[in-house]
Amino acid sequence: MHDHKILVTCGLGYIGAHVCVNVCVKLLESNFNVVVIDNFSNSSRDTPDKINTITGRTITLYKGDFCDVAFLRKVFQNETHFSCVVHLAALVLMHESLSDPVKYYECKLTTSCMACPIAAIQFLACLM
Ligand SMILES: NC(=O)c1ccc[n+]([C@@H]2O[C@H](COP(=O)([O-])OP(=O)(O)OC[C@H]3O[C@@H](n4cnc5c(N)ncnc54)[C@H](O)[C@@H]3O)[C@@H](O)[C@H]2O)c1
Repeated sequence: MHDHKILVTCGLGYIGAHVCVNVCVKLLESNFNVVVIDNFSNSSRDTPDKINTITGRTITLYKGDFCDVAFLRKVFQNETHFSCVVHLAALVLMHESLSDPVKYYECKLTTSCMACPIAAIQFLACLM
């Protein structure tokens, strides 16, 4: 039997931090562990501590880029059997998105292409 785990991609941003807090609180009784991948490109250094303080739980944090295959390979050597993947990876700065739309398109596309097979593999692993 594996621990219950939920993966939040880019989970230290505005939406991600709220997801982490609510998931931790709501699933506390079920003993879910929250694993976050974030590169801190648009999040504060103290966000993980704030999440831990609010929830009384400790999230597992992997600092790195969700487009970096070598980094993801290392993460998933350590972490398997996620029951759920919440995919929030994106760039969200309005002005930059207008001046460099390709960068935004590529980020959304690449991270989604990563997240979909990861979620499928984790789902299959949970069935075994
Ligand atoms: N904020 C809103 O009102 C809102 C509304 C609807 C949908 N959304 C969607 O929710 C998602 C998150 O939005 P947000 O407002 O929380 O953004 P945010 O910028 O606050 O959070 C994004 C997080 O992703 C991280 N990140 C970005 N690129 C990364 C990468 N390549 N690898 C690892 N980490 C990376 C950043 O450091 C940040 O912590 C986006 O998909 C956005 O479109 C947001």
